[in-house]
Amino acid sequence: MLVAARVVHVLSVVLWIGGVAFVTTVLIPAIRRHPNPEERGEIFEQFESRFALQAKVTTFLAGASGFYLLYEMDAWARYLDPSFWWVHLMTFVWFAFTLVLFVLEPAFLHRYFLEQAKKDPERAFAFLQRMHWVLLTLSLTAIVGAVAGTRGYLRF
Ligand code: HEM
Repeated sequence: MLVAARVVHVLSVVLWIGGVAFVTTVLIPAIRRHPNPEERGEIFEQFESRFALQAKVTTFLAGASGFYLLYEMDAWARYLDPSFWWVHLMTFVWFAFTLVLFVLEPAFLHRYFLEQAKKDPERAFAFLQRMHWVLLTLSLTAIVGAVAGTRGYLRF
């Protein structure tokens, strides 16, 4: 079961963070160059809404398989050991995305962004891109930490 959980975990992470990388490095920069600023919010909405369900499913699967791995390996004590900083970082990244996707977006963030994108598209998209870069950088750092950390490297 450990191997199956690890396969589900890594596949979910690949689909999820790969999608975030595409949105950050390709989709948002392309939309920011669209000649009609008033249309940018709607164009983003069309593409992003197709990724939203995939992001929710993969975030859920990554979290479920991650906690199952900790349970099955009886490795909860890693949360008390700073040398397992990458377990903290993985959990933080998962928590941040879960909060945005399942709580903040449905509650107000989705509507708020579209309003801001109509009012001041340059500013709204600059902010959106910055936030995506922050989350992508943290996610990639967590992946580097996890892959190296499980093999005994990067333990400070
Ligand atoms: C609730 C959140 C999460 C928990 C509890 C969790 C937990 C774990 C555990 C226990 C392992 C196995 C470590 C070992 O074999 O020693 C693992 C592996 C891994 N995790 Fe997570 N994880 C979570 C979220 C994430 C996220 C958000 C990412 C990426 C951004 C990530 C990337 C990885 C990768 C790439 C591996 C495979 C490491 C390898 O075997 O090479 N995890 N995770």
